[in-house]
Amino acid sequence: MELLKNIVAVRNYVSQAKKEGKSIGLVPTMGYLHEGHLSLARKARAQNDIVIMSIFVNPTQFGPNEDLERYPRDLERDKKLAEGARVDAIFFPSAEEMYPSNFATYVHVEVLTEVLCGASRPGHFRGVTTVVSKLFNIVQPDRAYFGLKDYQQATVIKRMVEDLNFPIEIVTVPTYREEDGLALSSRNKYLSPEQRQSARSLYRALKLGEELIHSGERQVEVVKEAMSKEILAHPETKIDYIAINNAETLQPLDEINGKILLALAVWVGSTRLIDNLVLEV
Ligand code: PAF
Repeated sequence: MELLKNIVAVRNYVSQAKKEGKSIGLVPTMGYLHEGHLSLARKARAQNDIVIMSIFVNPTQFGPNEDLERYPRDLERDKKLAEGARVDAIFFPSAEEMYPSNFATYVHVEVLTEVLCGASRPGHFRGVTTVVSKLFNIVQPDRAYFGLKDYQQATVIKRMVEDLNFPIEIVTVPTYREEDGLALSSRNKYLSPEQRQSARSLYRALKLGEELIHSGERQVEVVKEAMSKEILAHPETKIDYIAINNAETLQPLDEINGKILLALAVWVGSTRLIDNLVLEV
């Protein structure tokens, strides 16, 4: 596996691959890899000649009081896991390489970023779309891979790719879950054993919401209230949001109908976790 530390090294590697007519799949990550990331890498492996994974804890997508400093990092462990998933090259730039001191250009997707996590984390998606645009320009992949745990992120990136004419196919991969339903996330590492128990409430609440909707409930507030009760029954939980929105426009619904996104963000202790389900009603 190639270790590419800077943009010049990526450009050289990619230009050789393109000369040989090889297709390139990009798996953007912030590292501390888990099975969710590896499922993206495996999908990329199946669809491309070359798989490049980026590992970069992107400072511009963290707010001033968020967990940038404590975000888990372990490059040696990540290298082994990526190699096991048959990744061909890892790109792990420094913050200075990606954001030199005179950096002044950002990419902002409107409307889709004003709801859900965008409302709770101002500037977050601007950081995501900026770094992803940079990665797309540096790596120039044929396809790029994103997990559906970050459903809003995937939707925003698809919008950006279409609006800015990036010649890249965005491939989404289902959320990878533990046996009890907890969605894999690098942030799960922050949870104490007791908090890990409480974190099960996210998926339980989503499944409860799904059950109510499938049994005919159409009132948004009734479903949200039941989901909220399920979460708050567990210690150390605090709800950031529970939303029942249109799965394409991401806008809130008055009545449950069509392709809907059931999404939530919940604090468990000092860790903010997100999860979602998409339903056809
Ligand atoms: O989903 C993530 O890990 C990050 O938001 C991404 C897409 C790698 C951009 O930093």
